[in-house]
Amino acid sequence: MSALASEHGAINLSQGFPDFLCSEALVERVSHYMKLGMNQYAPMPGVLRLRERIAEKVERLYGCRYDPETEITLTAGGTQALYTAIAAIVQEGDEVIIFEPAYDSYAPAVEVHRGIPVFVALTPPAFRIDWDLVRKVINRRTRLIIINSPHNPTGATLSADDLKELQRLISTTDILVLSDEVYEHIIFDGRRHESVLRYPDLASRSFVVFSFGKTYHNTGWKLGYCLAPSSLMAEFRKVHQFLVFSVNTPLQYAFADIMEDSSHYEQLPSFYEEKRNMFLNLIKDLPFTVWPAEGSYFQCAGYEHISEAGDRDFAMQLTREAGVAVIPVSAFYHDGTDHRLIRFCFAKQPQTLEQAAERLRRYLS
Ligand SMILES: Cc1ncc(COP(=O)(O)O)c(C=O)c1O
Repeated sequence: MSALASEHGAINLSQGFPDFLCSEALVERVSHYMKLGMNQYAPMPGVLRLRERIAEKVERLYGCRYDPETEITLTAGGTQALYTAIAAIVQEGDEVIIFEPAYDSYAPAVEVHRGIPVFVALTPPAFRIDWDLVRKVINRRTRLIIINSPHNPTGATLSADDLKELQRLISTTDILVLSDEVYEHIIFDGRRHESVLRYPDLASRSFVVFSFGKTYHNTGWKLGYCLAPSSLMAEFRKVHQFLVFSVNTPLQYAFADIMEDSSHYEQLPSFYEEKRNMFLNLIKDLPFTVWPAEGSYFQCAGYEHISEAGDRDFAMQLTREAGVAVIPVSAFYHDGTDHRLIRFCFAKQPQTLEQAAERLRRYLS
């Protein structure tokens, strides 16, 4: 959709990335460490000072202690952490439960290791997990359950009850959890991010994935990290070592400095909530049906009052004819299930959102 957007000069609300700058202080720190000569390979698990900052952060936020030496690894974005965790534990014939719609990297990573994705549909319009459905698909081949909150593409979040239910469901099994929490700080309306790290029984069997790109507005830097108990992390690192060995050195030093100040991510919920509210307000008179995002920087919308087209056709139509690029939510289903929903990314400057809404208004009037 991004390629189609540039072909048609469309405002790109499709792919998930900010169109504003990351902090100058962060860029200054990166260039400082580059000029200082910190340009060679980092240690395999990551720069120790950054792992220590991460350990302090998760202890403060989620009340759990992770050992920087053995339980935290820096990765090339959240995507590499997800892939590496799957590669470390999924073997031929293992079943992996994936809730759909889903971020697109999960199923291919499972399949490439000859695992079997078992898709469980989230229930629209709120896209909650139906735990009875999960109970029905769990069997002795189930190796892993992948969860994602706040959720891409729907903006839904998991509640404390969801995590307790998951804990109950797998407590007597060997099932592991891969928790994708890259939007941990992008959560709205006073909700608390329910990290698996808050639930010791779950955390003890989980890989938990985070992304600096989402939190610090620099998705192109591709830096993330994974937390897991030492026995799981040892397996993770066996793959990590030969997949990538280590990741970007000067960025790691820079983030170690920047993380000393927590104010950036403490302000992130309100920063993005303002953008969500602004976007919802801009499109409130347009004939879309919306269920306000609870988190992430995505807002889904139904268009049943506008068109009967499938969501791929409708997304192309908006891109070509209205000049606003969006993503069809069917793209997040393995079988193209079409609830006739499109996804907008609102991680944009106010003027971008205003121009996009104006184009939509002109097109739909
Ligand atoms: C749910 C989810 N997980 C993981 C990622 C990947 O994060 P990164 O860009 O750090 O690889 C994304 C990026 O869009 C995402 O939406």
